[in-house]
Amino acid sequence: MANINTDNDTINSSNISSSSPLLSINLTRLDNLFNIGRNYSMIIDQYDDEQQQLQQQQQQQSSSIIITNDDDQQECPFYPPQWLIILFTISLIIFFMILIRFMQAIFTWFISPLIFGNMVKWNGGPNTWAIITGATDGLGLAYAKAMAEKGYCLLLLSRNQEKLDKVKQEILKQYQSCTDIRTLVVDFTQGHDSYDYIGEQIRSLPGSVHVLINNVGMSYKYPEYFTRILDGNKFITNIMNCNMVSVVRMTYLVLPLMEKQKSGIILNISSFSALFPSPLLTLYSASKIFMDYFSRGLYWEYRHRGIIIQSVVPYYVTTNMIRNPGVSFMIPNPDTFVRSALKTVGHEIRTYGFITHRILAFVREWNRFFIGFNFSTRLATRSLSNARKRCYQRKGLDHHV
Ligand SMILES: NC(=O)c1ccc[n+]([C@@H]2O[C@H](COP(=O)([O-])OP(=O)(O)OC[C@H]3O[C@@H](n4cnc5c(N)ncnc54)[C@H](OP(=O)(O)O)[C@@H]3O)[C@@H](O)[C@H]2O)c1
Repeated sequence: MANINTDNDTINSSNISSSSPLLSINLTRLDNLFNIGRNYSMIIDQYDDEQQQLQQQQQQQSSSIIITNDDDQQECPFYPPQWLIILFTISLIIFFMILIRFMQAIFTWFISPLIFGNMVKWNGGPNTWAIITGATDGLGLAYAKAMAEKGYCLLLLSRNQEKLDKVKQEILKQYQSCTDIRTLVVDFTQGHDSYDYIGEQIRSLPGSVHVLINNVGMSYKYPEYFTRILDGNKFITNIMNCNMVSVVRMTYLVLPLMEKQKSGIILNISSFSALFPSPLLTLYSASKIFMDYFSRGLYWEYRHRGIIIQSVVPYYVTTNMIRNPGVSFMIPNPDTFVRSALKTVGHEIRTYGFITHRILAFVREWNRFFIGFNFSTRLATRSLSNARKRCYQRKGLDHHV
């Protein structure tokens, strides 16, 4: 019998005592088979070893790559943290926003007039009329003179006939291009009653009405808390009639005429105080934002009908209304302001009118963007409270509410 040692995986065929040749051949074959199996298992073992070595090598290589990266990072001179990248990106966006607004302002003020010239055709002539409310002083008078210079006939409206006559003579003498001036005594605080009469006078003008300047306006005598305004009921009615009703009713009289002739210019003199609430002048600033919205809304309604409607939002201009402070970098006289503001007609739907007023508005806009809407109002509250205090002290009264 063949002795098969399974422990050693060997078959010792020499120990086999074989009596038949057939058995001997079969045993030899079996021996070969075991040899093949042993070789095969050796190959598998070798394969496993190789695989293990390969895996170890790969692991070593990948760890060496990470080390290389670390080295790279350490070699990089400055690798900014994420918060710095975010901050830089935000700053860059803000910088470009400011730059765009600045370029827009430069374009409307300097480049656009150079390229396109006058966007408006001022049709001054013996039969073309400009109507100006509140025309005997301040901005109204300056607009009246500017229109006379352009050759318009003038219809001037104010409360005082004497002042109106004086202004009429002055303008006729100074501007030969202006051939006719008519005057109308109207108190715009008196509400709706006077508009039928004004309408009749406008329709009786020979020729066409090409310009309307809604300039008349009134403000507080001094900054005051709403419930403490002297003769409050009367003041509320007066300021609303003068600053809002007059603008709407005058526009309603003139705009249909402009629509028919497919041309016309309406300038509404609002105020810088329309840009944010002005506490202690609350009613004034609210009436001016009304005017501003009214103008800008109408502009979009009528822009395709040959009619230009502009909202003018001046900062201080030295007039009676603000007790004539001296002229300065920020406070022009009415003539300078009007000359500058007229250049923007046709270029801007809403104009600050004067370059330093534009710059101030620009600063305010960005204050609002960065610090919030209430910042300007807070500043205005403080300065108007101080102004009120000074008024009370001048009269020897206690300013505490
Ligand atoms: N001056 C500024 O710093 C400034 C800033 C922003 C906006 N604004 C606006 O600009 C416009 C003109 O202001 P201003 O500073 O030139 O004022 P102003 O110097 O006081 O002149 C006001 C004109 O309106 C007339 N008027 C006043 N009340 C009237 C009434 N109830 N009915 C008819 N006419 C009246 C006055 O003439 P009579 O007294 O003879 O009637 C005068 O001709 C106003 O709408 C104002 O809100 C002015």
